[in-house]
Amino acid sequence: MARAKFTVSSSQVALESQENVDGEQATVVVTDDNVKGCWLSTWEMLLIAGMAAVLVTASGLVVGLTVPDCGEAPSPPPTKHDGWRTPDTVTPLHYAIELKPYLDPADMDPEDFYFTGNVNITVRCDKETNRIYLHTRRLEVSAIQVYSANDDTAAAVPEFVTSSYDAEREFLMVDLRSKLNVGATYYLYMEFTGKLVKDPNAMNGIYLSSYTSANGTEMWHMASQLESTSARRVFPCFDEPSFSPTYEAVIWRKKHHIALYNTPLLSSSASGEWMIDRFGVTLPMPTYLNAFVVCDFSMIETETMHGTQVRAFSQPGRIDQAQYSLQATKDILEFFEHHYRILYPMDKSDLVAVPDKGGAMENWGLVLYREGIMLYDTEKDSVSQHKSRATVIGHEIAHQWFGNLVTCHWWTHIWLNEGFASFLEWQGADKIEPEWKLWEQFVVDNLQSVMRLDSVPSARALVVPDDVINTPSEISSMFDSITYDKGGAVCRMMEYIMGTDSFNNGLTLFLERHSYGTATTSDLWDALQEQSLLDGSSADMLDGQHIQTIMNTWTLQNGYPVITVTRDYVNGGATVSQQRFLRDSSPTRHLTRNYNQSYELALEWVTADRDSWTSPERLWMHGDAEGE
Ligand code: BES
Ligand code: ZN
Repeated sequence: MARAKFTVSSSQVALESQENVDGEQATVVVTDDNVKGCWLSTWEMLLIAGMAAVLVTASGLVVGLTVPDCGEAPSPPPTKHDGWRTPDTVTPLHYAIELKPYLDPADMDPEDFYFTGNVNITVRCDKETNRIYLHTRRLEVSAIQVYSANDDTAAAVPEFVTSSYDAEREFLMVDLRSKLNVGATYYLYMEFTGKLVKDPNAMNGIYLSSYTSANGTEMWHMASQLESTSARRVFPCFDEPSFSPTYEAVIWRKKHHIALYNTPLLSSSASGEWMIDRFGVTLPMPTYLNAFVVCDFSMIETETMHGTQVRAFSQPGRIDQAQYSLQATKDILEFFEHHYRILYPMDKSDLVAVPDKGGAMENWGLVLYREGIMLYDTEKDSVSQHKSRATVIGHEIAHQWFGNLVTCHWWTHIWLNEGFASFLEWQGADKIEPEWKLWEQFVVDNLQSVMRLDSVPSARALVVPDDVINTPSEISSMFDSITYDKGGAVCRMMEYIMGTDSFNNGLTLFLERHSYGTATTSDLWDALQEQSLLDGSSADMLDGQHIQTIMNTWTLQNGYPVITVTRDYVNGGATVSQQRFLRDSSPTRHLTRNYNQSYELALEWVTADRDSWTSPERLWMHGDAEGE
């Protein structure tokens, strides 16, 4: 391994940090190569540093520096998606992450809490390039090294020249003197620092949280929330869900704390007043599923029938209230393992009640919940709070398969995570609380609430064109009721039109085929179609149509129809027509296809002489496919 041929150092050269126009912390790292290639004298470096400061101040953006006459011109910027996505030149294979959070009030004022860290990313070069694009946000990157992972000859080592930062696109651009070789692997090492802030409106990345102990002391801890684009706030990374690398982590903590990561603790060693916890390697997963917690919480534990360790953590005084959620997690994990015939593949499943968190997050092996959701206060909680406890746990556990085992390839397919979890949360919760008849409430809670939103022309389609969702705020906008509730309702309809067994078998096929990787909506159709042909009865139920032909009319265009049935009492028949149901008029947006606002429908009915819904008549009503 040819390590440290060229390094950057923050002391040697300029490290500029400046608030940009958005008030975001932006960083310029100007670097030097004192081993090979272009050597800069001190005054040259000072000049460049001065220029950088001027450029930063003048533009409000961080502008990178190119060292004159050294190395090749940088490879052209990514053109895909208006430059918002990383170019397909390198693929991340593995991340080794190390974090050291300073959150001990004995050391500093909580206002000043911060973390330092480093990451060593193994990347494979897929296309020749001398520029690597990574995401970072609000991190001060203070050192960058690139070295070959393949051999130790100096020639194989691409020389690091400089880096720059695009604050709008949140890209750190690392420029190399020579091009990376296609097929070769490299290590990309970076050191960084970030702030630890307690801000209820910004609980993204690593954030601070606290509770008040029995003796009135404010007890500090940190937790993380990385979905959808906040992994880049914790460590520089290729922060897009299409990549499925593995990760390992080392977390430093003080002795009164514990540290938690997605994987089990491998070893702990002491270093002065610090403990260094080393965690195992994850399964392949997207950046947004990483989770880090440092806290002083208590723990209770159990085990699933297949030997997965399940542990619940909460502030010490409330750990008894975690019993319900611990048991629910175990039961629902076992239910989905049985339902999809795929075992939960991680060694452990932790759940943590975080006092200041909003909502819940399905981090693989380390699910985080707002304290009020996870902890059951039998004295104070309302029936509806208790109901949502069961469904939220059902939701996050469903994600361990839909989202974690198989991740949406891009955010335009996020319904494959959130729509399915919204559908399956009811099944999971129903398993632990059958007498609540949760399934009957799905229609009112999810279906009817989103029908209201979907009845205006401006509603978006469930799956929008790939190129309209690029920026972090566009990505956030995908986590709406169309994704969650319409996505869930569409799943329910598919179960109905394909038949329960075939639908479930098709989902198992989908999960098996795309395990530890990503999938698009078309991948789902392929698996369901294959399964429906295998189960002839399902193909009959679909009347020989491809499931994709049917479902495109529901996923690629907005809305839903109102069906008008006109009885002919003289001749004993009826005429049925469909029309999109609209309660308002406003411009339509984000349709991948417009099928003339008509839908492929399975109409089922019973007649007075056969009034049993167990064997209804079924007729397919075809949409008007002129829009094709
Ligand atoms: N994956 C989401 C959390 C999330 C939401 C991340 C939006 C990024 C953007 C999680 O599974 C989720 O949906 N949480 C919900 C609760 C759920 C039961 C509806 C939440 O946090 O509100
Ligand atoms: Zn979810």
